Amino acid sequence: MNKPWLRTILIPAFCLTAGFLSAAETNAPAFHPGAPWLATDGVHIDAHGGAILYENKTFYWFGELQNGGRRRLPAVSVYTSTDLYHWTNGGAVLTRSTDSNSEFRAGCIVERPKVLHNPKTGKYVMWFHLELAGRGYNAARVAVAVSDTVIGPYRYVNSFRPNGNMSRDMNLYLDDDGKAYEIYAANDNYDMRICQLSDDFLSATTNDVMIASDHREGPAPFKYHGRYYLITSACTGFAPNAANYYTADNIMGPWTAHPNPCVGPKADTTFDGQSTAVLPVPGKPGAFIFMADRWVPRDLKNSGHIWLPIQIKGDQLTITWQNQWDLSWFDKNAR
Ligand code: GAL
Repeated sequence: MNKPWLRTILIPAFCLTAGFLSAAETNAPAFHPGAPWLATDGVHIDAHGGAILYENKTFYWFGELQNGGRRRLPAVSVYTSTDLYHWTNGGAVLTRSTDSNSEFRAGCIVERPKVLHNPKTGKYVMWFHLELAGRGYNAARVAVAVSDTVIGPYRYVNSFRPNGNMSRDMNLYLDDDGKAYEIYAANDNYDMRICQLSDDFLSATTNDVMIASDHREGPAPFKYHGRYYLITSACTGFAPNAANYYTADNIMGPWTAHPNPCVGPKADTTFDGQSTAVLPVPGKPGAFIFMADRWVPRDLKNSGHIWLPIQIKGDQLTITWQNQWDLSWFDKNAR
């Protein structure tokens, strides 16, 4: 072929078609689990132990804001995105009180914030794990904050132990029928419980049962084809451990335990991560993203984010390690 111009066109076209160029090489957006994930401000995303609220075609990623130390005033951050790959830092949406008499003052620990929108009151309601200043992890309470707008600022309301139970690692789940639930580690983390929220999402009802007494944390719930799934971690602090998961046909149980769904290098330590949430991908039924934190205890703000696709076959969940992937994974893999 003595036509260099034709070679210039044909060879790259062939490579692209044949999939010879990886997503990174073509600059197509992709997820890189565990790698530094820079927001549009050029700084690693500081939203840990968090979860994502999707509304008006925008993703709102709420999480622990660790920059400046985990006991300073800014407590919860939000990042926004329209494509899940590129994130803009929206700053602190919940800030600890400067009032030394407040239980929500500087010095308290804020972990695993989650936000739901309440359609009846119009409010955005945040629940999070609160430990009181100077008391280590002994308070074991859940706290509530509210806002009129999704990006805050959120106003601290109160904290409590649901039905008298300790509440540490937690998540919220909003079901299709509008009922919301807190899933929480109680009884010094030996019991995973689920408690229905009041209609305004501001308090716990007495509809509160045990999921399992297996000493688990990091609850990450989702629902597919009418079945409830709950991925959890074991309890080893910031050190990673093996995940497991539970399934149930009724959200109040009974729940059945299943072994570790992770596959690939470091599957027995959840790829050196700990579950925080599962995100249903809008517009892709059956597509769910597993979200985990790769904790760096001495530098929490730089803890990594591990996002991986979940494969569901019958009752079986599989989370397979990928160095890099993108949302088209869900179109190529059976759900
Ligand atoms: C983990 C928990 C984290 C944090 C950490 C502190 O077990 O999941 O949210 O509380 O312990 O050591």
